[in-house]
Amino acid sequence: MVANRVVVVTGGASGIGLGVSKMFAAKGHPVAVLDVQEEALEREGDTLRAQGARILTRKVDVSDRNSIEATYAAVREELGPIAIVVANAGISEGIRFQDVTVETWQRMVDINLTGVFHTVQAALPDMIDANWGRIITISSQAAQSGAADRAHYSAAKAGVIGLTRALAREFAGQGITVNTIPPSVVATPMAEAGIAAGTFPPLEVIAQHIPIPRPGTPDDIAAACEYLASDGASYVTGQVLAVNGGMFIG
Ligand SMILES: NC(=O)c1ccc[n+]([C@@H]2O[C@H](COP(=O)([O-])OP(=O)(O)OC[C@H]3O[C@@H](n4cnc5c(N)ncnc54)[C@H](O)[C@@H]3O)[C@@H](O)[C@H]2O)c1
Repeated sequence: MVANRVVVVTGGASGIGLGVSKMFAAKGHPVAVLDVQEEALEREGDTLRAQGARILTRKVDVSDRNSIEATYAAVREELGPIAIVVANAGISEGIRFQDVTVETWQRMVDINLTGVFHTVQAALPDMIDANWGRIITISSQAAQSGAADRAHYSAAKAGVIGLTRALAREFAGQGITVNTIPPSVVATPMAEAGIAAGTFPPLEVIAQHIPIPRPGTPDDIAAACEYLASDGASYVTGQVLAVNGGMFIG
């Protein structure tokens, strides 16, 4: 991978996004790590900077377009034009469909789907100018197989897959690839929160149902991001790259 390409990772202060940010930083890329968790951002940003990485951290809510635009202006100013975007920020919650309120539904769609729209659309001018870009969205197996008590989450993530495929076709002629990774079970604070709330089985129980019998790690997802962002993946677009231990094969 050519180093020095500016990377944006949303939801980069925790779990998968943090693993992806660490990977790109270790490969020599300047990384803008965006998240709503200010303390975690500063802590993780300081750790990466101490290792010599060029890191910009910003508190950003991906559902707020103005906040994304203002942050991207700072990214361009401090790091340079955006070349690689990993639209990873997301929320999840287990809730029976009958209990999903209009507000709950709207918040899920605002963050998990419209947040990806903002994150990607605002970065595209740089990629179009450069005639090169890599967009990776993080969707979910919930969009592929469905997930009980996660109808709003599954629907928003299915939207992310549809958005990814449409953009792949629209920008294929401009050196920009657009792919999605739908994790199944990755050991992160999100998974831990689901287990603590009783809406997600313990990881060791789920692992028994995964052909490769372990939960995924942020590093597993980061390795796929490294590939999709590489020059070697210039002929790969519109794909759903399921990094999931074989849990869903489709
Ligand atoms: N962990 C899994 O098993 C799993 C499975 C399928 C899909 N995913 C997806 O992977 C992505 C990362 O999840 P994770 O497991 O690392 O969870 P996580 O909770 O550890 O990390 C998600 C990060 O996104 C941030 N975030 C939440 N809302 C935000 C907003 N509005 N603006 C900016 N940042 C925001 C959080 O603060 C957090 O740091 C999510 O999109 C999630 O839906 C995870």
